[in-house]
Amino acid sequence: MIERSPIMVTGGAGFIGSHACKALSDAGHLPVTLDDLSTGNRDAVKWGPLAVAGLQDTKAVAAALQAHGVRMVMHFAASAYVGESMRDPALYYLNNVGGMTSLLAACRAARVDKVILSSSCATYGIPDRMPITEDTPQQPVNPYGRTKLICEQMLQDYEAAYGIRHVALRYFNAAGADPEGELFECHDPETHLIPLALMAAAGQRGPLEVFGSDYATRDGSCERDYIHVSDLARGHLLAADYLETGGESCALNLGTGRGYTVLEVLAAIKQATGVAVPYRLSPRRAGDPPMLTADVSRAQRVLGFKAACPDLVQIIRDAAPSFGLNPVPEEADAQIPA
Ligand SMILES: NC(=O)c1ccc[n+]([C@@H]2O[C@H](COP(=O)([O-])OP(=O)(O)OC[C@H]3O[C@@H](n4cnc5c(N)ncnc54)[C@H](O)[C@@H]3O)[C@@H](O)[C@H]2O)c1
Repeated sequence: MIERSPIMVTGGAGFIGSHACKALSDAGHLPVTLDDLSTGNRDAVKWGPLAVAGLQDTKAVAAALQAHGVRMVMHFAASAYVGESMRDPALYYLNNVGGMTSLLAACRAARVDKVILSSSCATYGIPDRMPITEDTPQQPVNPYGRTKLICEQMLQDYEAAYGIRHVALRYFNAAGADPEGELFECHDPETHLIPLALMAAAGQRGPLEVFGSDYATRDGSCERDYIHVSDLARGHLLAADYLETGGESCALNLGTGRGYTVLEVLAAIKQATGVAVPYRLSPRRAGDPPMLTADVSRAQRVLGFKAACPDLVQIIRDAAPSFGLNPVPEEADAQIPA
């Protein structure tokens, strides 16, 4: 039986962090959220205490770790917009690399020796071979991806010098929302495809722009690997148990292993909600890889992780209420065109 202990969740008021807090609480842990509420939402912190502080405030972070007897940190807090990182890289180096430096200093001060990092498939850049394995060269093509890669490298250095063990989880595209309706998908500004498409379907914005229709994919639009946010949360629980039981530091992809094109996502939204997404085709956007899909075999082997909800239509059913859309009853489903 694994001892259940308090776990700090930086960014626990954000989209993925709040889902991780729920999963931690359901598994008997106490999630201790540390968040500056810069993009997060106070109402999403429901399963444990909230320390409102910035990562850069090393003393406040160390105090929160010590006050709750924390021995492990799940580190979600970061700036996470690729486009913004290209316009304002300083913000990304300050918040993501500066924040990580301060957080790790606080961990050392409070004798926390286990860290689970939210890393990203953005660290791989534009690989020429699919699916992406953990050994695919990491060659990020924007400041956001570079800051995530630096965070991974910092963890390797801090393990060698200070013995902090870690799991870096390289997420593919997080999507969906808590199936029990206790949490919603909420980003401001919104940049993720599924929320943008649902907002267009709900009439909350104009037609969706589909960037690129001439890629070498099934239908010419970009292909991505969408993973349910509750599956990501479960991946973190498994990583926590892995580190608690002495697992070695590692980096793991978290995806489903299956890709869907943008046009397939739009068809899945029609199937899940009964509403067609208004869209228009636009030229390719610079820096968009045609295809990003994960080889998920290492996470399965190391953690026993396999996405419980790899079905895109179900992911969209769970996301739809966040945007005021009701999923249509399952029996009315038609197949997504291949
Ligand atoms: N959403 C995705 O598809 C995706 C994919 C790959 C990786 N990630 C990574 O997952 C993590 C969570 O992403 P998300 O989509 O939930 O983002 P989010 O913006 O919803 O959550 C981030 C949270 O961190 C907090 N925060 C940011 N900077 C902080 C600071 N300096 N101090 C304290 N709190 C701070 C914000 O207030 C927010 O609550 C990020 O690290 C992101 O890079 C996300």
